[in-house]
Formats: sequence, structure tokens, C-alpha cells
Amino acid sequence: MCGISGVVGLKDISNALFETIRNLEYRGYDSCGVALLNKNSIVVKKNVGGVEEFYRKENVLRHKSSIGIAHTRWATHGRVTRENTHPHQSCDGKFAVVHNGIISNYRALKESLVRLGHRFESETDTEVIPHLLEENHRKLNNVEAAFVKTLCELEGTFAIAFVSTYHPGQIFCAKRESPLMLGIGDEIKFVGSDFNSFIDYTKNAVIIDDGEYAIVSRDSYMVKNYLTREEVAKPITKIEWDAETSKKGGFPHYMLKEIHEQPQTVTNALDVEDAVLDKVVEGIAQSGQGHLVGVGTTYYVAQFGQYMISSLAGQSLFAVSSDEFAALSNVGRDSFVLALSQSGETYDTLTAVKHAKSRGARTAAVVNVMGSSLSRLADNVVLQGSGPEICVISTKAALAQMVILVRIGLKLALRKNAMTAAAFDRSMSVLRDLPGIIQAVLNERSGFIHRIAHEYFKIKHWLYLGRGVYYPIALESALKMKEVAYVHAEGMPGGFLKHGTLAMIDKDIYSIVFIPPREEKALYEATLHSVEEIRARSGFVLGIHFDERGKNKNLFSEELILPNVSPLIAPLLQLVISQLFAYFTATSLKRDIDKPRSLAKSVTVG
Ligand code: G6P
Repeated sequence: MCGISGVVGLKDISNALFETIRNLEYRGYDSCGVALLNKNSIVVKKNVGGVEEFYRKENVLRHKSSIGIAHTRWATHGRVTRENTHPHQSCDGKFAVVHNGIISNYRALKESLVRLGHRFESETDTEVIPHLLEENHRKLNNVEAAFVKTLCELEGTFAIAFVSTYHPGQIFCAKRESPLMLGIGDEIKFVGSDFNSFIDYTKNAVIIDDGEYAIVSRDSYMVKNYLTREEVAKPITKIEWDAETSKKGGFPHYMLKEIHEQPQTVTNALDVEDAVLDKVVEGIAQSGQGHLVGVGTTYYVAQFGQYMISSLAGQSLFAVSSDEFAALSNVGRDSFVLALSQSGETYDTLTAVKHAKSRGARTAAVVNVMGSSLSRLADNVVLQGSGPEICVISTKAALAQMVILVRIGLKLALRKNAMTAAAFDRSMSVLRDLPGIIQAVLNERSGFIHRIAHEYFKIKHWLYLGRGVYYPIALESALKMKEVAYVHAEGMPGGFLKHGTLAMIDKDIYSIVFIPPREEKALYEATLHSVEEIRARSGFVLGIHFDERGKNKNLFSEELILPNVSPLIAPLLQLVISQLFAYFTATSLKRDIDKPRSLAKSVTVG
């Protein structure tokens, strides 16, 4: 987590530095700091609070400079205090460092640095880096050599950037397992945790790989491997995202904007080339065992894929939360692992894929961020093309991944003759109707969802129930409620209810039940049993269903009726509804929608 950025340019870069770090705020936002080089000294400003709050309170923009680095923090080591905020400096004040990742051997390094007389001001792991730089520079009298020595002494993960008074026109940076890229403009260069940081200024990026460091100045940059010290020729990656898509565009929050972008992101998912998906399908078909991995929202996407692929193609894949993958899954040469990740930078998911690769398994990934670590690690990559997802809560990226998994399920079914070509074509045309149906539902139901969310926003406990593929939808919907509204919401299979949880039903526990369309007869009836069980105990049930003719009138306490659609897309439509329900509940509760507490968009630590 944490975002780092750096800018070196011709004139004053302080405004550009502000914008680049603000664009990374979704990565962490409990404190913020900058280091600007001013003639022969470094001005460091830092404090707790979000980027804009910090800039305003500290009046940071009045400090002008042509080079600077910045950091927005998501605390891992050390509390949220001014002292623990980056940048951290060496004792002599000649190095200022920002860092994302975890230095695992920092205690040992700190002890030996303290013995050498270094004074520490923070509780962070990061602070060992500027002191090591100072110490190594004292011995080697060369900043680059001191940097390389320092990097070799650090264990753990890092994206580091620093400025030094010894080289007032250069930003030094390096990467090991935390994302880092350069933005290459004319007479201005950027360092950033991702493209979003500098997309307003340049679409030319250089992706730094693990084991590399870079020295960046206004007119040039150089990338080297820090083990061999040899220069690495790096290609320029053209960022395909449009800077405008990363703006709010009239919506009060990114979350709402991104929910409303779903007709487009589903279209983009449907436009992903067949040849790209065919490789994944082939990998699953030829494997002895297939696995789906993801974590947080993407774990629920994986579970959704598990149900879909099983029902469409009759093939069982194991959905495993990435953080549990190594402990649970026996992978080997005949395994195929499909990883799901919006950011492509999530530590747990990267670790799972590395584990699979180390055992000889074949891997593929569905990823939103091009050039991300996962997209470079997996053997095959499906870029879902959902555009930047800025809100920390994932909505459009998750839905698009689900659509891609439905396509994979259909293709696998065709490949295994579990489905005729005609049935495949019919299913694809159902999928192609989805963007229009989502658009209509957003237009016609948003007001009603707003109203019921406002009516029930004070409810403290929700049960989210679904059966079959509606179960992962219930899980993901409950997660939205927890993440954005901080309201207790528990996802559960409908059938599980009678094995204990029914005892909890009373006037304080409210339930949302995801009812399938009637044509899924067995699942529909089983789900209604769950509703009856709750109603028999006078529990409240909000039913989300497709019975447009309102045949269930007396069954639900409240109902949200959707147009009757094919079972292939019904759960996806219900997910859109519950995203809106969580959003409006959170606005009624006056939550910080796009930056909810204790969450970061891409968790790059284990
Ligand atoms: C974090 C985020 C979640 C996200 C998960 C996986 O926990 O807060 O919202 O679902 O990471 O992220 P990924 O980028 O791998 O999909």
C-alpha cells in the first residue's frame, strides 16, 4: 500500500507533485508528506490527514522547487503520527526517502545503525533507508554506489524513491515486489506507484521490474539492475487509459460514477478478443485441476466463476482465497491457476501465482491494470479493459471480471461439447443485452434504491442470503456494505441458515435475499424456503427478485423487483442493485465513500 510519486522538471513542479500524489490517494490516506529540494537543502513537510487536508493545513504549495518526492501513507509499521509519516531523512539531512512495502529486517538494521550513532525519529521500518544511505555514502562517497549497497542490505519488499542534496537534479528509485513506474515527458519526468499518478502529464511510461533501480532527471533516465549494475534497455509502454476517465465527471463520488460506468465496462469485457480467452479455456481444459484465486472482492469473483464454470461446462475448479492458496492447494505440473485481480499488484495474489509457478503449474490472470506485476507474471493475461477504478471499493472491475468468467465458462462448455453452438450463440446474445439492461435498471431503479437505503440505513445487522451462484453474489454484496458503510453484513448460503443462524433472527437482524428467476425452479423454490424460515420468525426480508407481476406480495417485508432476465445474467444484475444499496446506505450514514476507513485499494503487503 502507500503511494509514492516524484517529479523532476524544468520549472516549479510543486503543483504537479500535488496532483500526482493526490491521484494515488486511493492507495492509502492516513498521512501525507513531501520533500522538495531547495538549492542545497531539502524541505520536508509532512503530517497526518489526507492529501488535500495536509496540503491546505501546511500550505505546502507555497514551497517552490523543480524536483520533489511525495508519499501518501497506509500505516503498517508504526501508528498514524507526524513522526511516522514519510519522507524520512538521514541524520545529516542530505537524503529524504519515501517507501512503499515492508523492510522485514529493519530491526536488525536499526540496531546496528543506532550503535553507529544514528538517531531515529519514527517507529517505521522505512527510516532505516535514509540512515543506511548516509552510512554507505560516508564509506563509498558516491550516491549511486551507496544506493546499490543499501538495496542489497534490505530484506523484504519495496518501492523506494529518494532525493539527495548531493545530486539536486535527480530522483533515485528502486523496486522489489512493490509497484513502480516512470512517466516520461519532455523536460519533465515522473516516478509513481502507478500510471494514474502522472496520466494527466504523459502517456509514456517505463515499468520498473523487480531488482531494478532508476536515476531520473529532467532530460533523461537510466534503469539498471542492482545486482549486476548493468544498464537495462526498457521499452516505453503507452498508457491506453484516457485521463478523463479518471475524473469524477459530475458524479458526487467515484463509486457512483464507476457503478454507472458498468454498461461500458461490461461491453469492454465482451469485446475482449476470443483468442485471448481461448488460451485460458485451453489451459483449463487440458489441466488435471483448475484453480481460481483472488482475494477480497476478487475472491468472491473467483467463487462466482467456480459456480458458473461448473454449471455451464461441468468442470469443477477450486476457488481459493489467495492468502490461503499455498496452505490449501496442492498444485503441480498438471494444474492451471487463473488469478483475478483488479490492480494486478495485490501481494497475496502475486504470492499465490508465484507459488503455483514454482510448482510448475500453468498460470493465467484476469487483470484491469496493464503493465501491473501480475500481468507480467502470469503465463497468459486477459486485460479486462475496465479503465481506471479510482474508488477503493471495487464495483465495475469486479462485474467485468464476472462477465469474462461467464464467457470462459461458455467457451469451455462449447470446447467440451457440453453445449451446442446454437446454445452458445444464444447465451452470447443474452450477454450482449446485459449493458442495455444494466443501463435501464440504473435509470429506473436508482431512485427507489436510494429511498429504501435511506429508510433502513440505521439497521446495524444484515444477513445477505443466496443459493447457488447467488451465494457469491450475496458474499460480494455484503462486502460492499461492510467496506463502504461500515455496517455489519454477513453473506451466507440460504441453506446454511437453518444450521444455526436462524437462532439469531429477531427484530434487529434484517435480511436481503437474492431470489433467482422463476425458471431456475429448484433454486427459486429453495431460496423461497429460506425467506419463509425468516418470515416465520418475524424477521425482516428485503427480496431482490424478478417476478415483475408481483406474485410474492405477502412474502417480503420489502421488495426490489427487476425485469425478468435470463439466469445467465440475473445474478450480475442483482450485484449492481446491491452496489447501489451499499452506496446509498453509506451516503445516508455520511461515510467517506471513495476512501473508506481501514481500506486501501491495492494491498501490496502480506
Ligand atoms: C484490497 C481492497 C479490496 C480488493 C482486494 C483485491 O483488499 O481493499 O477492495 O478487493 O484488495 O484487490 P485486487 O486489486 O487484487 O483485485
